[in-house]
Amino acid sequence: MKLQAIRGMHDYLPVETALLEHIEKILKKILFSYGYNEISFPIVEKTSLFKKAIGSITDVVEKEMYIFKDRKGESLTLRPEGTASCVRAGIEHGFLYNKEQKFWYKGPMFRYERPQKGRYRQFNQIGVEVFGHKGPDIDAELIFMTHRWWRALCISDYVKLEINSIGSKSERARYRKVLVSFLKLNKHHLDETCLKRIDTNPLRILDSKNNNIKKLLNDAPLITDYLDENSKKHFDNLCKFLKLAGISYTINPKLVRGLDYYNRTVFEWVTKNIGSQGALCGGGRYDYLVEQLGGNATPAIGFAIGLDRLIMLIKTAYPNLNLNKKVDAYIIGTSNNIKNSTLFLAEKIRNYLPKLRLMTNYGEGSLKKQFNLAYKYGAKLALVIGENEIASNKVFVKDLCMGNKELISQNDVILKLKDFFKKYN
Ligand code: HAM
Repeated sequence: MKLQAIRGMHDYLPVETALLEHIEKILKKILFSYGYNEISFPIVEKTSLFKKAIGSITDVVEKEMYIFKDRKGESLTLRPEGTASCVRAGIEHGFLYNKEQKFWYKGPMFRYERPQKGRYRQFNQIGVEVFGHKGPDIDAELIFMTHRWWRALCISDYVKLEINSIGSKSERARYRKVLVSFLKLNKHHLDETCLKRIDTNPLRILDSKNNNIKKLLNDAPLITDYLDENSKKHFDNLCKFLKLAGISYTINPKLVRGLDYYNRTVFEWVTKNIGSQGALCGGGRYDYLVEQLGGNATPAIGFAIGLDRLIMLIKTAYPNLNLNKKVDAYIIGTSNNIKNSTLFLAEKIRNYLPKLRLMTNYGEGSLKKQFNLAYKYGAKLALVIGENEIASNKVFVKDLCMGNKELISQNDVILKLKDFFKKYN
């Protein structure tokens, strides 16, 4: 049997983990500057939480959740997303009512989707949730923040913003009626999945990837024509703020999102550079969800970014990028008998210079082989010790870029390294 990871789940190799760390560092700095605090939830929750929050007639709940029973028969689910958990935690700990809260979280999510490039069964998200603000200014601020992320990651040229308003529950109910009439009139053009959806979740048909259906939908009624004055004003203000901030966007009246909790503003940042799974980041308002899950009515908005897709995009934009820091210095031992000395010289250096990246081959292999390894790891300096050096408490130092060599006292090694790496660090 071939040993391999579970279908749709993948390893992060050092190039990716370094990139992930880099991304997180940049995003965290920006989140901090906007006043967000990190929150963290369990990976497993009661199945009923996701059914209630996401909606029973959504792809995620109908067919993508990893559901299992615990030893007492309780139905649990590996979280497919973070919003439901965040609201659950907010209600449980009582930190939502009458308060303004700004949270962010990160971690793996699980969806049993058909795997393909950019679509995994385990994927990582960084999510953001804001509670207690009902105006369009917070909608705009969230988008400003994501826009700032793209600039900081140097990928602004690769992403585009799509926005829409899907109105309130009653506006959607009115729209749903006219959409269903339109779809029923054109039943013969619909595929099996869409036919099933007419009576259960007709708005999701707007998301169909089937080209014939897409063509048909060009003539479908638009949700934007069924918004009331307040929703229209909210959306117009958001558009105004985006224009003032110089952020380009497209209004996509067919953007409805795949989870049922949204209302009014929805948005997605999309890219054409990583194949068909181009949604990089998506979210919107969910002003009913807190109440729906048992809390006091609290306006809310949030979004999540797919880190796997973001890594793919950065790797596509910068194919030679490797953020793994190379080794600064490499310690070479000239014989097997001096393993202790190389090991303890390395420890001593690390005590004084914890930021220096230092490796040693513990005296294994020929001198030539060890020098080759030092070059391979990109070390700029080699420290060589043999039996003579140990006897005289000296160390032989070679600048691997310039070729200069010198013999110095082991007591001066720290000073020498500090001085040498001043120009690089
Ligand atoms: P979502 O649109 O389902 O929203 O997911 C957000 C992002 O996660 C997507 O834009 C995509 O980049 C990534 N993603 C989703 N599914 C997969 C997958 N199978 N493989 C790889 N990446 C994936 C949410 O999850 C909402 N909770 C966002 C939100 C927060 N809305 C309000 N607050």
